[in-house]
Amino acid sequence: MNEKTYLKLIDAAKAATKNSYSPYSKFAVGAAVITKTGKIYKGANVENASYPLTNCAERSALFNAVSDGAKNIEAVAVWTSRGGVFPCGACRQAIFELAPNADVIVNKKGGGIMIANIKDLLPYAFCLE
Ligand code: THU
Repeated sequence: MNEKTYLKLIDAAKAATKNSYSPYSKFAVGAAVITKTGKIYKGANVENASYPLTNCAERSALFNAVSDGAKNIEAVAVWTSRGGVFPCGACRQAIFELAPNADVIVNKKGGGIMIANIKDLLPYAFCLE
């Protein structure tokens, strides 16, 4: 996918922060995924008073897409006001499972984007075979 598409995906991730439910950390995260056919699904982090139940924005977006029947997720974008925030380890494993060839795009603090493939973000990923 091209840079223009990735910038559009980052915009969708930024828009997704609007629905972040993060009363505990006050750290709003937005994510968006795009399929081969160009369909975009968004997600935000959703926290819980029982902290470990929190769902990161990346997994929210992925689960939103997969549970809607999406196939061939080609990229995952993450937006934070801080910039430069790549997915946590658990989300890397979830991305590897559901979008094993995905590029991961994050916004940079001063503008612009960074891109890394999930295979580089999670070397020697766990899989059952
Ligand atoms: N968070 C994400 O949504 N994605 C990440 O990649 C890192 C962390 C969320 C989880 C929690 O709601 C807040 O950020 C602080 O950890």
